[in-house]
Amino acid sequence: MAKTIAFVRSPGPSFNEAISSNLKNQPIDIKRACLQHESYISALKEIGLDVISLPSADEYPDAPFVEDTTVVFDHIALACPNKEKSRRGEGPSIHKEIKKHITMKALPPSANLDGGDVLNTEEKIFVGISSRTNLEAVNSLAKFTTKPVIPVKVIRGLHLKTSVSYLGNNIIVLDPSSIETTSLRTFKWIETNGHAANCLAIGNIVLISKGCTEEADKIRLKGFKTREVDISEFEKADGGLTCLSIILKKI
Ligand code: GLY
Repeated sequence: MAKTIAFVRSPGPSFNEAISSNLKNQPIDIKRACLQHESYISALKEIGLDVISLPSADEYPDAPFVEDTTVVFDHIALACPNKEKSRRGEGPSIHKEIKKHITMKALPPSANLDGGDVLNTEEKIFVGISSRTNLEAVNSLAKFTTKPVIPVKVIRGLHLKTSVSYLGNNIIVLDPSSIETTSLRTFKWIETNGHAANCLAIGNIVLISKGCTEEADKIRLKGFKTREVDISEFEKADGGLTCLSIILKKI
């Protein structure tokens, strides 16, 4: 049976230069980041995913945040035109790997899009209008899917998925103070104001940031299993659990 694939990229020696809103107070410990990244990979493998791990790309400090390079829909992957200049070269080496498994298309350069701004649910796709993603991206994505593509204003935080994650069964985990929530009202909410808002659901298992025990309890009450993963060094650079992989479900 075809397995779900996770594409990841290890942090390199330049990871402590990753873009961050809080680096001055909290320098990144690269050794610790590498160990945390290995644990993240182990968690994905234990869930049953095939993990394709790319070597570090030292010229791109933010390269471990692979999610931002690519959006994956059921039958197609889309290369993201990233707005942030220092991140623009991250895509090609990972796209080369992804193309071996699924058709890839490019979005027009007038669209600015980070994958962290795309929340895909069964019925709809939500796109964060953030410092990295513009309305043109909403229109461009809509050409590749039959689902409605809905813009959501990001009020605080880097990306839409910094503040909201979809678990399945119509349930989201979210920080309602950081995004415009009107279009998310039809979901059942698990509210948080911390790192739990970015969690990674794979089937019935939810990876959640270490220490988010209250939110993990609430997620389990909804019938999911949870597994805490320590990614504190990546959180210092505004990253979360979804940022560290591109998940390709084999159908
Ligand atoms: N540090 C993650 C980003 O700025 O994209």
